[in-house]
Amino acid sequence: MIILDGKKVSNDIKEEIAEHVKSMISKGDKVPHLAAILVGSDGASMTYVNAKVKACQRIGFNSTLIELPEYTSEEELLQKIHDLNTNNDIDGFIVQLPLPKQIDEQKVLMAIDPNKDVDGFHPVNVGRMALDLPTFLPATPYGIMELLERYQIETSGKNVVVLGRSHIVGRPMSILMSQKRKAGDATVTVVHSRSKNLEAITKEADIIVAAIGISEFLTGDMVKEDVVIIDVGITRVPDATKKNGYRLAGDVHFESVSQKASYITPVPGGVGPMTIAMLLKNTLLARERHNQ
Ligand code: GUN
Repeated sequence: MIILDGKKVSNDIKEEIAEHVKSMISKGDKVPHLAAILVGSDGASMTYVNAKVKACQRIGFNSTLIELPEYTSEEELLQKIHDLNTNNDIDGFIVQLPLPKQIDEQKVLMAIDPNKDVDGFHPVNVGRMALDLPTFLPATPYGIMELLERYQIETSGKNVVVLGRSHIVGRPMSILMSQKRKAGDATVTVVHSRSKNLEAITKEADIIVAAIGISEFLTGDMVKEDVVIIDVGITRVPDATKKNGYRLAGDVHFESVSQKASYITPVPGGVGPMTIAMLLKNTLLARERHNQ
């Protein structure tokens, strides 16, 4: 069994980007600038956004973090988005999800200028992705594709089962892996909360992408020998033996599934760091496109 070391691969990618930034500076070019909007103080969202901002600083990007209170109105948030859309200093920005319930997520995502939408969530960019046109690929699926590619995992003609149909991971993942591309050309099945005979489907899978949001949902008896496992889930599970009172668990029961898997991503240190690296890659791409 081989661990798909997202931490290492993401560090390699970040080094590649940092080198690129150095050459931009030496040529007198503007360095990429990423902004992130965080509404409220959800613990996990704060952790993710801070990690994104810190990653920018480490590789030489400029970054701006805009923190808004939980009670922010939709109108106020839309105004901030408008400000970023029209600020020539900002190459790309993200609005961390989920948003407080008084704010319509769809309205917010649609307000982002598609040319600055480095999360790739705007309908224009989702459409471009579905049509295989140049776009910003959503960072988590993009990171998974990159991980599969760098470990040279064969996907062509393989049975891929995607657990979950979220707009952020499951849906784009299923589209990308079915396309004619590197880490694509697969036969993809999407399973979700209404799927029947789930176990019969997962047992046929050569590759499973687990993005269902239920901790340790996929167990060893649900998979076949030599399966490749990509675990997108990350949940805090109460654990009295830990100092902070919790441990991080994925959507995969690592102990049992890893005994059968040929490759598996750990949680943490698998998909999570890849998401951040690909967000940086998209921001670099945004900067380069704005130059053109
Ligand atoms: N919440 C969970 N994942 C993501 C992500 O990739 N981008 C944003 N903006 N919010 C998220």
